[in-house]
Amino acid sequence: MQIGKVKRVRLGIFPTPLQELRALSEELGGPRIFVKRDDLNGLALGGNKLRKLEYAMAEARDLGATAVITTGRVQSNHCRLTAAAANLLGMKTYLILVGEEPEMATGNLLVDKILGVEELRYVEGDSYGKDSPLEEAVRELSEELSRRGEVPYYIPNGCRPLHGALGYAGCVRETVSQLHELNLAPDWFVVACGTTGTCLGLLLGSHLYCHGEAKVVGISISRPADFLNEKLEKGWEEATGFLEIGAGMPGGGPRIHDEYVGKGYGIPTPEGVKAIRLLARLEGLILDPVYTGKAMAGLIDLAKQGLFAPGDVVVFVHTGGIPGLFADRQIPYLQ
Ligand SMILES: Cc1ncc(COP(=O)(O)O)c(C=O)c1O
Repeated sequence: MQIGKVKRVRLGIFPTPLQELRALSEELGGPRIFVKRDDLNGLALGGNKLRKLEYAMAEARDLGATAVITTGRVQSNHCRLTAAAANLLGMKTYLILVGEEPEMATGNLLVDKILGVEELRYVEGDSYGKDSPLEEAVRELSEELSRRGEVPYYIPNGCRPLHGALGYAGCVRETVSQLHELNLAPDWFVVACGTTGTCLGLLLGSHLYCHGEAKVVGISISRPADFLNEKLEKGWEEATGFLEIGAGMPGGGPRIHDEYVGKGYGIPTPEGVKAIRLLARLEGLILDPVYTGKAMAGLIDLAKQGLFAPGDVVVFVHTGGIPGLFADRQIPYLQ
């Protein structure tokens, strides 16, 4: 199937801006660095999940869903944007969050409350795996909602890989056309990598719109590179199978770097905090401590190691996460 024929609902404002980071390029002595502002995509403080949700919510609407169930951590950007998307489409949102209920809602959780999420449930533990307490809680809630006459639609944390692939292929299409205006084309995309959907979409977009010549660097924010590579392989098979494209991953696959994770998910690294301050001071660009700060720290380090040639065009995808700056756990690192 042609990608343009896959059902999609409009949720955000696209294309998002593409800005050149001249002062950062100068600081690093080349390459040319651009930032794709998916943090400015228009709904509930923005972020990368919106492009994926345009496909997930189209499916939900087609199935006649009246309520959306999704999961994430307490400070989930995905949950915030799912709730906003559901509001736009007149559906209720039920969130199952991994972690303890905090005394005071800050950051994303505060926005979830402002958005009027129908119900928030909390589960212990840290696993998203099969037969985890989280999976059990999703099953229970789905059954409960069906009994009450709702039609629930479940969106896994971060959206299905296929929806990520479709959404972020679209981001490449936009970027290619914006760079074309400047007589340029992307050599690299650099992005934070969590559930891998965004990376997968950039790879698909590179295949569809760049002859596979744009390379994708994914900076892990939590998991080991082997795990992420395996997940990407599976996602690639699903997405190319769905679109009936017989092709291997461009450039032999992504370059996943897991050396910028630090102590773990959501724990800022000194290099990430330094990158946040540097970009704010050089460019007035605000990054977040969980995803984009670590991804930018990776870009800066890889540039210093000489990964990019001086004339290369590097596109850093700003995936959002800004409410995370105002989460109680992050504030002490950033003052
Ligand atoms: C702000 C932000 N950036 C990046 C990511 C990572 O994207 P993905 O899950 O598609 O790898 C996420 C979600 O996990 C996110 O919320």
